[in-house]
Amino acid sequence: MNAEAGRRVQVDLGGRAYEVHIGTGLIDRAGELLAPHLPRRRTVVVTDRHVADHHGERLAAALEAGGIAVDMIVLPPGEQTKSFAGLEDLIARLLALKLDRGDRIVAFGGGVVGDLAGFAAAIYKRGVDFIQVPTTLLAQVDSSVGGKTAIDTAAGKNLVGAFHQPCFVLADLDVLATLPGRELRAGYGEVLKYGLLGDAAFFGWLEANGGAVLAGEAGALAHAVARCVEMKAQIVAEDERESGRRALLNLGHTFAHALESETGFGEALLHGEAVAVGCALAFRFSAELGVCPPD
Ligand code: GLY
Repeated sequence: MNAEAGRRVQVDLGGRAYEVHIGTGLIDRAGELLAPHLPRRRTVVVTDRHVADHHGERLAAALEAGGIAVDMIVLPPGEQTKSFAGLEDLIARLLALKLDRGDRIVAFGGGVVGDLAGFAAAIYKRGVDFIQVPTTLLAQVDSSVGGKTAIDTAAGKNLVGAFHQPCFVLADLDVLATLPGRELRAGYGEVLKYGLLGDAAFFGWLEANGGAVLAGEAGALAHAVARCVEMKAQIVAEDERESGRRALLNLGHTFAHALESETGFGEALLHGEAVAVGCALAFRFSAELGVCPPD
């Protein structure tokens, strides 16, 4: 793909279809690219402190240059924000900003911000539209696409939420350059999952190019993100609410969620790391059951 021009992947959901725009230099063009999706020329950007520190001013400036008025809500980073308390705080702040039903929220961050802001959008004033601007590899290849939004509860991860599709996803590969190596490796756990889901050619490509992806090599990252998004878009279009084929996207996640629960949903084990370990455990278990040849 020509990363500068970017690639556009369509999530084909009839009247709720939307586009995932993947490429470089996109945040600087956010005013122009998001304007068609913000007819009221006003938005609230929901982000976390890390993302705000690295990219917040740039996104706000780009939106304002496009004639879009911006308020920014900056949340504490980390999975603990994805809670009833975090949701209540976010909704109170949206109400204080007088976000209207015709306005749209921009979720600017990783999986936690996307899940929480997306769920808030699903229930705020009985539902407003939202845009995903994912800033981690994990969010770009998986969580920003497909409309799963949720918070965690004491009983487990993602147990309260809604299917609420974004109306646009803008994935700027440049922001991955500021990700800590650990975050990039964790996101690679989800990339690997797509390789295992039924695209042997992509798995082979990852075996040859995984190092380049993890080194942040632009062309390799662009291919990996675009291929994962294409696969996810196809699966979501076939089975939006996970009554069948979409369950494939949970490969390794049963083990992963158990491990995350044991380790407290935090820094000890990141979600993508848990998915990588979970995929390995799922295959070992499947081999023991005799439903998957060990080789
Ligand atoms: N992350 C799994 C799914 O979106 O279905």
